[in-house]
Amino acid sequence: MSATASRDLKTGGCLQGRVKVPGDKSISHRSLLFGAIAEGTTTIDGLLPAEDPISTAACLRAMGVSISPIEAGRVVTVEGVGLDGLQEPQQILDCGNSGTTMRLMLGLLAGRAGRHFVLDGDASLRRRPMRRVGQPLASMGADVRGRDNGNLAPLAVQGTTLRGTIVGTPVASAQVKSAILLAALTADGPTTVIEPSQSRDHSERMLRAFGANLQVGGEMGRHISVKPGATLHGQNVVVPGDISSAAFWLVAGALVPGSDLIIENVGLNPTRTGILEVLDQMGANIEILNPRDVAGEPVGDLRVTHGPLKPFQFGEEIMPRLVDEVPILSVAACFCDGESRISGAAELRVKETDRLAVMARQLKAMGADIEEHEDGMTIRGGRPLSGTSLDSETDHRVAMSLAVAALMASGPSTLARSEAAAVSYPTFWDELGRLHR
Ligand code: S3P
Repeated sequence: MSATASRDLKTGGCLQGRVKVPGDKSISHRSLLFGAIAEGTTTIDGLLPAEDPISTAACLRAMGVSISPIEAGRVVTVEGVGLDGLQEPQQILDCGNSGTTMRLMLGLLAGRAGRHFVLDGDASLRRRPMRRVGQPLASMGADVRGRDNGNLAPLAVQGTTLRGTIVGTPVASAQVKSAILLAALTADGPTTVIEPSQSRDHSERMLRAFGANLQVGGEMGRHISVKPGATLHGQNVVVPGDISSAAFWLVAGALVPGSDLIIENVGLNPTRTGILEVLDQMGANIEILNPRDVAGEPVGDLRVTHGPLKPFQFGEEIMPRLVDEVPILSVAACFCDGESRISGAAELRVKETDRLAVMARQLKAMGADIEEHEDGMTIRGGRPLSGTSLDSETDHRVAMSLAVAALMASGPSTLARSEAAAVSYPTFWDELGRLHR
């Protein structure tokens, strides 16, 4: 991450215009990973040019995969090395701040027999739980070691031939599921992953498109089975805009008086659209324009205009569909008259930061009435918030959520460590400056 930067945040005014959010982070990681282990060339149009996917690309390059430079507006080319072509890296694989990179890499590398890998990350990633991946992989015979009994990075992976098996995951996590699916591609027999509820399904859609022998079944797509042996073939991937990045504009447009925004080319995969369900419950004015299908993913443009908002309640059931949007929804709740309640959100405590604690701390510093619970928060909205000195605490989604809160506060705010936004949305601050009137 670049040097730490404190930034003056905008307040008042309104947001108007059109914005095209950068590529979906989840799909960007996967297109690089699947392209790397396919036969032939993969092209990626719309790859997110941000720190997290750049970490994935750097790890793959260190294992001999040729990937063209990742720059905004440029189609990225990945020269696949095939399912067993990754070389043992000479150096530690640095996953930076990216949980998706580290967890998916574990699944990818565990089955590379005879090769040794060491994975590490920044201070935030070194605190995040990895046993949730290491344990199911161990049931396939994987050898993954780390601090805290294999839970914490740095992690060492000794590649070995894995057994196909049936694995139940303890949490609905697309990262855990995807790691197992990657490991399953080269196991010695079929593997089935069973999730407690369905998490985002980009891996399933894309692996199938690349040629994997993958079946989705069970109630609500919770059982995913892979038969090894199929060759993956390079694809031309088109990455839709990230609904998790669009979420900041959706909430800002709905909250700030006088706002009218069109957010173009947003991925609307039903495993990701929980934010739209909650905003609908709140009475937000959001229209889906020009719905279409792009490379196997539903996409649309979203128009949001300001209007009065009602408080909301949501819990565990919807969590996998909006897990990354809880910080910005906690901001929205501060500006609705009445009590909003978030429960079933304990996973937020093991993201880039403990997002329940960090959002409660930062919003309270502005004067918000928030009660933090083990698995969520109660927010009594409608009190005016005052601008103050804020801190992203190094978390990209916290940085952008606080920028939206500051727009609605009376008086100026500053944001320490604002550069964190570049993890998923490098142009966020420029876009905010451009849309703000
Ligand atoms: C992601 C899955 C989610 C999400 C993260 C990206 C992915 O994490 O929070 O930002 O790309 O698979 P979990 O799998 O831990 O829920």
